[in-house]
Amino acid sequence: MSQPTLKNAPSLDAYWMPFTANRQFKAAPRLLAAAEGMHYTATDGHQVLDGTAGLWCVNAGHGRRAIAQAVEQQLLTLDFAPSFQMGHPAAFAFAEALAAIAPGGPEAGLDRVFFTGSGSESVDTALKIALAYQRAIGQGTRTRLIGRERGYHGVGFGGISVGGLVNNRRVFTQLPGTDHLRHTHDPARNSFVKGQPEHGAELAEDLERLVALHGAETIAACIVEPVAGSTGVLIPPKGYLERLREICTRHGILLIFDEVITGFGRLGTPFATDYFGVVPDLVTTAKGLTNGTVPMGAVFASRTIHDALMHGPENAIELFHGYTYSGHPLACAAGLATLGIYAEEGLLTRGAALAADWAGAVHDLRGRRHVIDIRTIGLVAGIELQPRPDAPGARAYEVFVDCFERGLLIRVTGDIIALSPPLIAEPEHIAEMTRILADAIDRVA
Ligand SMILES: Cc1ncc(COP(=O)(O)O)c(C=O)c1O
Repeated sequence: MSQPTLKNAPSLDAYWMPFTANRQFKAAPRLLAAAEGMHYTATDGHQVLDGTAGLWCVNAGHGRRAIAQAVEQQLLTLDFAPSFQMGHPAAFAFAEALAAIAPGGPEAGLDRVFFTGSGSESVDTALKIALAYQRAIGQGTRTRLIGRERGYHGVGFGGISVGGLVNNRRVFTQLPGTDHLRHTHDPARNSFVKGQPEHGAELAEDLERLVALHGAETIAACIVEPVAGSTGVLIPPKGYLERLREICTRHGILLIFDEVITGFGRLGTPFATDYFGVVPDLVTTAKGLTNGTVPMGAVFASRTIHDALMHGPENAIELFHGYTYSGHPLACAAGLATLGIYAEEGLLTRGAALAADWAGAVHDLRGRRHVIDIRTIGLVAGIELQPRPDAPGARAYEVFVDCFERGLLIRVTGDIIALSPPLIAEPEHIAEMTRILADAIDRVA
């Protein structure tokens, strides 16, 4: 690709890039200079349609002035406030605003909000709240945490331990007392499905296997992504989440939904909890919480969990957990402005109106060479390519580079392409995305 033409371009040596093939990238870098609406501008000046909402986070599109103004005003008014034994109004206002749209609606009672700095921190926070809750209700033997194969829960030690992507934990070890359900991906029975696949609800019974193996009295919580995103868009089979909920309830195991990707409108409902009508005990969020502008995460906890911990002497800290940047004023200002945009423009449900056209456009890629599966739900799509036998991941990576050069940002994991555009996407953007992608797939060897 063409090299960036930034004047006084910095050396690329010092920055050790995350989740990046550093040497490959630095040999042929892709640098973004600006963003507005549905588009990035690369440093060489070419426009790139954002097919991934940045990294699943810029749900209201780029360059939103209301967020910029709110952050600037907050920065000039109160730049930082200590988060321990101190507060500031914006944190309470943001928590209250989030509680009003909490996953599952008012009946679900998931309206107590703990602020973090990222998705990974939200996951570790939710796991720790689960352990603290079990102990508080006299179930202190419940220390085991269950995740699922092919799950992604960020990069903290808790998150990688319950996560099911082996590359993320092979080098780093795994916390003791963690185990994994089987994943739900079953292309032999479910392929080229729009929405939820028919087959596989029974895979939730795998939790019964782990209960039999370890004893329910040792298990604190089970965490899953309602729709697994980073592993390549795995949509839960019909009835699966319902059954998982039943089994958790039966055995006193807390159910945690990791909604870092699915939260804030991605599926055409405010949360996946709303989409599937299955209510967990804790929900982790980040990303779309501030439209990706200022790093922040939030954990929604049920009142039952929250209230169980509000015991003991009044001067005792109920949960020994928190971050310097929990409820950071700039993040709260950004988040409040983001919620304002979501409400004004109806973005938390806009995906529902686009979902059928979206699915239709993406499923039109079926039949092209290399395409072995397509999965869609809300404004998300996974397009799986046949891996090259000698080089898994290479084919999709080449499609990614080709798309970028021709003006489309997609995301790839292995040989799976993920699309998740900002929720402001118009039909012409969707048409352009699938056109550029189809051409790139046709070109790749
Ligand atoms: C489901 C899920 N959980 C957690 C995370 C981690 O979030 P972060 O990168 O903000 O730490 C991600 C990031 O993609 C995610 O998709």
